[in-house]
Amino acid sequence: MAAPKNQAAWLTKAGTPLEVGDAPLPIAGPGEIVVKNAAVAINPLDCHMQDVGVFVQQWPAIFGCDVAGEVYEVGADVQRFKRGDRVIGHAINLVSGRPQDGAYALYTVIPTNKAAILPDAISFTNGVVVPFAVETAVCVLSLKVPGVAMPGVSTPALGLPYPSLQDPAPSLGKTLVVYGGSSSVGSMTTQLATAAGIHIISIAGAHNLDFSKRCGAAQVFDHKDPSVVDRVVESVAQSGHEFIGIFDAIATPDTYAHDLAILARLGGGHLACVHPPPADVPSNVKAGMIFAVNDIATPVWEDYVTPALEVGKIQCLPPPTVVGKGLEYIQEALKKSKAGVSATKLVVEL
Ligand SMILES: NC(=O)c1ccc[n+]([C@@H]2O[C@H](COP(=O)([O-])OP(=O)(O)OC[C@H]3O[C@@H](n4cnc5c(N)ncnc54)[C@H](OP(=O)(O)O)[C@@H]3O)[C@@H](O)[C@H]2O)c1
Repeated sequence: MAAPKNQAAWLTKAGTPLEVGDAPLPIAGPGEIVVKNAAVAINPLDCHMQDVGVFVQQWPAIFGCDVAGEVYEVGADVQRFKRGDRVIGHAINLVSGRPQDGAYALYTVIPTNKAAILPDAISFTNGVVVPFAVETAVCVLSLKVPGVAMPGVSTPALGLPYPSLQDPAPSLGKTLVVYGGSSSVGSMTTQLATAAGIHIISIAGAHNLDFSKRCGAAQVFDHKDPSVVDRVVESVAQSGHEFIGIFDAIATPDTYAHDLAILARLGGGHLACVHPPPADVPSNVKAGMIFAVNDIATPVWEDYVTPALEVGKIQCLPPPTVVGKGLEYIQEALKKSKAGVSATKLVVEL
């Protein structure tokens, strides 16, 4: 049988539109699968990669982090997957730089420890919202020792347990504040933390309070409420649990000002950010920046994601918004992502 033809949405130069064109058909190496993509998702990082070429190691580039589709080929040593399996996967072009590891193609190489079987009941379009967000959430919650996020910036190390399938999860007696509870990474961190028995208090847009509760937050406060700091501090105190700190999934000067005010009132704690944290934090604040490609997530990928999807412990949230079908829609989806989204993940079907 003739090999299928691969195509990709290529970035040939920073700051230029993606160009759809032929691409070599990837080959699965040891510990890898090749996925025939049925859906890919857009992340804010992708816009940044396109605009300034950050993380691009090889031109022309194929980037993108989230895929869902069918296994086309497995590497020689691969046991967990076989051809035809329905999967979701986290594509790692971000660290490898290899074009075959980018999601924005018809076929993508995924490391087996960043992939999981997608239950039949879940569509590719829904499932594709999960991969990058899951790995980010594990990096937020479970790193035990600080690593390096970028030169001079360490990662946070909250050292919290992995999520469990027990329902409800036994309480750990700890409270974490999630700033940006309706964002993709904020809502997935809320889901995994809740499943690890952590009490979550989140901060989201007024129209997304119920959405964040659906992800597991016990209490949610409007980020535009002028008394949001007071309300969060009160809520943490009322929880009666040990205060872990804040995961800031937004990480702007405004959110940092709120974070530091909350931490000051609660005696300090962790400040885990999606971007470099504020420069001068008090000594009782342990600040760090997430770097969301890390093998700390392997046990979650291998043992948790599939059964959690099956029983609804991981919900495919925020829900997808389909921008179109075909690689040529990825450029339009990137434009929409740059304009901003609210409690949804932009998806292109293939
Ligand atoms: N360092 C890493 O490894 C890493 C990994 C993944 C993501 N990131 C970064 O993390 C950020 C979030 O990514 P994402 O994919 O989760 O984004 P996203 O889903 O596109 O974020 C959109 C959400 O942000 C919320 N939001 C915006 N301003 C807010 C504010 N002031 N307070 C509370 N919520 C606010 C909006 O909430 P409402 O509509 O409810 O107002 C909206 O639902 C991006 O900057 C991304 O680049 C970093």
